[in-house]
Amino acid sequence: MAVNLLLGLQWGDEGKGKIVDVLTKNYDIIARFQGGPNAGHTLEFDGIKHVLHTIPSGIFHDKAVNLVGNGVVIDPVIFKKELDNLAKFNIDYKSKLLISRKAHLILPTHRILDAASEASKGKAKIGSTLKGIGPTYMDKTGRNGIRVGDLELSDWKERYRTLANKHEAMIDFYDAKIEYDLQELEQDFFEAVETLKSLTFIDSEEYLHQAQKEGKKILAEGAQGSLLDIDFGTYPFVTSSNTTAAGACTGLGVAPNKIKEVFGIFKAYTTRVGSGPFPTELFDEDGETMGRVGNEFGATTGRPRRCGWLDLVALKYAVHVNGVTQLMMMKGDVLSGFETLKVCTAYKYKGETIDHLPYNIEPENVTPIYTEMKGWSEDLTKMSDKSQFPKELNEYIEFLEKELETPITIVSVGPDRTQTIHR
Ligand code: GDP
Ligand code: IMO
Ligand code: MG
Repeated sequence: MAVNLLLGLQWGDEGKGKIVDVLTKNYDIIARFQGGPNAGHTLEFDGIKHVLHTIPSGIFHDKAVNLVGNGVVIDPVIFKKELDNLAKFNIDYKSKLLISRKAHLILPTHRILDAASEASKGKAKIGSTLKGIGPTYMDKTGRNGIRVGDLELSDWKERYRTLANKHEAMIDFYDAKIEYDLQELEQDFFEAVETLKSLTFIDSEEYLHQAQKEGKKILAEGAQGSLLDIDFGTYPFVTSSNTTAAGACTGLGVAPNKIKEVFGIFKAYTTRVGSGPFPTELFDEDGETMGRVGNEFGATTGRPRRCGWLDLVALKYAVHVNGVTQLMMMKGDVLSGFETLKVCTAYKYKGETIDHLPYNIEPENVTPIYTEMKGWSEDLTKMSDKSQFPKELNEYIEFLEKELETPITIVSVGPDRTQTIHR
């Protein structure tokens, strides 16, 4: 009867997609609760790599139902491309993909507004994926948005036109002039809306309520990471939704007292794509090695990810904000070969040593203080059991468990489904 959550604890791309895919066999329903096509969730099995943006990462399994919850924002054009990709692999998505009527739609003009807003910011830009996420959530909270359920109403196109006209006036307001052909964009949009309408729209909060009553097992899949949360992230360099545990309650209509396990996923080091502060960022050969060995390029935009050592100050904060009950450590294999590993355990903040995340972590305020640990040279990618782990890896894991006061129950040693070790 329980609902479990799976969340990224850093700045996204922790490996959520991979682990949701691995865990799906234990669940009846996989539900996305926030974000949109700014997410890129990678799954690998049978030698094939799949990247999902809006569709939950349980879609490749036969039994589980995959639900796009009310907290998600959907771009019909990108959604259609995702469906077309699934069709290539003969995935019968129609029978197992449900969409909340309360999810909001990303319109073509939302994407243009995103581009105009970013261009006008110059050096202060967020580094958005430019998928229209910010403007769509602004219309949601501004009470102007168009929802999936509206597509069932006869006057939705008039409402669309009113909103798109308003957006065009807003785009003109920005100095940065973005070239676009709205008619062409709308053609794709309306065609994709028809595809979306061929799927099943539901009142998902009621569906999930009934599912819980029937004893079904539900896993809520997060997107982005805790440090990109609109309230608790490194504002303003964040996304526009609550990526933390509370977001699953509002993004699905699941009550807080129904949540059991909170799985927190983190990389054995840290990455960030886009702008914003990153105290443990490396600009040296070590950072370059992490990026190269870890193949750290954004799954949505292809941008290189910034890399650095593990930041336990930030990670502890994410564990607390989310109430994480189990940790999962990803990409330990990428650290093989480092003679010495560094873990940030405190910050020098305005002359003082602190071990909590302060309001402002801009580089001029914060210097990381590191604990050094001995690295391991063994290749982890072929390992299938924790008994094969080198002593130094066990020491690294045990150190993190002690600092974070939370058990690490899964260690991932490669991108493939099978490269997953339970502890
Ligand atoms: P998500 O957004 O949290 O789902 O993560 P992404 O898919 O954006 O980024 C994670 C990347 O790391 C993907 O390319 C995965 O295939 C890859 N990956 C996941 N787990 C591991 C691991 O344990 N080791 C290695 N080397 N790669 C991994
Ligand atoms: P997954 O689910 C990593 C980052 C962007 C930018 C900021 C705001 O794959 O972990 P937005 O497009 O929301 O306006 O961008 O957030 N960002 C992500 N970084 N992984 C993601 O998703 C991200 N989604 C957004 O790079 O810095
Ligand atoms: Mg990603």
